[in-house]
Amino acid sequence: MACLSPSRLCARVQDKLMCQFGHKVRRQTVFVKLKPPGPTPLRIFGRTCQRVTTCGPACGSAGMGPAAAGAVRRLASSLQSTSTGSLPDYGSQIVDPYRLLEDDLNGIYEDIRSELERNTNQAELNTIATYYFDGQGKALRPMVAILMARAVNYHVYGENSALLPSQRQVAMISEMIHSASLIHDDVIDQSDFRRGKPSVNVLWNHKKVAMAGDFILAVASMMIARLRSDEVTLVLSQVVTDLVQGEFMQLGSKETENERFAHYLTKTYRKTASLIANSVKAVALLSGADEATSELAFQYGRNLGLSFQLVDDLLDFVSSAQARKHGVEAARLAADLADSPYQKALALTTDLVLNRIK
Ligand code: FPP
Ligand code: MG
Repeated sequence: MACLSPSRLCARVQDKLMCQFGHKVRRQTVFVKLKPPGPTPLRIFGRTCQRVTTCGPACGSAGMGPAAAGAVRRLASSLQSTSTGSLPDYGSQIVDPYRLLEDDLNGIYEDIRSELERNTNQAELNTIATYYFDGQGKALRPMVAILMARAVNYHVYGENSALLPSQRQVAMISEMIHSASLIHDDVIDQSDFRRGKPSVNVLWNHKKVAMAGDFILAVASMMIARLRSDEVTLVLSQVVTDLVQGEFMQLGSKETENERFAHYLTKTYRKTASLIANSVKAVALLSGADEATSELAFQYGRNLGLSFQLVDDLLDFVSSAQARKHGVEAARLAADLADSPYQKALALTTDLVLNRIK
């Protein structure tokens, strides 16, 4: 997590990377100098941000164990040595995905809160379960799910296609699974803050917090069942299996550097990319898309998710061009869908993820 000030980005980078490579350390804060602000500040996730392209000497591998530092260097060079291509030049065609989907996303947190509320008469359980659905999140997962739904609908049925209610439900389910996992993660990590406020485990005891996470997951499962699609049920259940395994893998370590590297990539897919990949596959399936298009959606989400997590883990250490490979691949996949504002916004989302400030 990081907070941005005009000249500095403060990030728990050291903590983050040590954890990623299997060594749990006490939380530390390091300060990373940003390059001087460019002429045109980016607006990402509703905030004005500065682009971070390189890393100053302050954020080398100092403080890391040699194994973790070696793995970071290896990951950086493996990504840089691959021909990464370039992201499309959007020129005047920039399509802000959040603006494009304003109506679809409007009220999504209220709808999730209502869904939870109507399933319990336990006031405190409801308060804990709805704590993170306060509208302050980026809603990246619902945004990407709805964008893919609209792009695939357009691809299959043309410009008069509409977002299906079941596809919007998947967007909600995706955010609910994500939040349930974060609640459990906050208990495991004994976190202090999330999204600018005390994390849930600080305010309520761990037993109640763990059950609130389970409750969100249970309500999300009922919503999945209501979609009445065995295929979508399987796809979204896979996400939960992956999340648990990804988090479990993070607790373990491997002997050799090669093993640690493979372990890190698999863990990253399971912990982050699987939710995005399977959610966009689910909306494609609900659209009635053929197998090739559903697979395209899945691969787009997989690459976007990997890119997102690699930026999160490594942005402060090495050039963001390392995560670029997956971003470029996601943008290439999006280009195979029929030309539409949603398809353009899917491509732009890869750029937003690569250039975001955490
Ligand atoms: C955040 O990691 C955690 C996740 C993305 C997944 C956590 C998964 C579980 C706890 C398994 C249980 C899953 C369910 C669905 C109940 P982080 O600690 O690296 O990121 P942070 O800085 O945002 O906390
Ligand atoms: Mg955590």
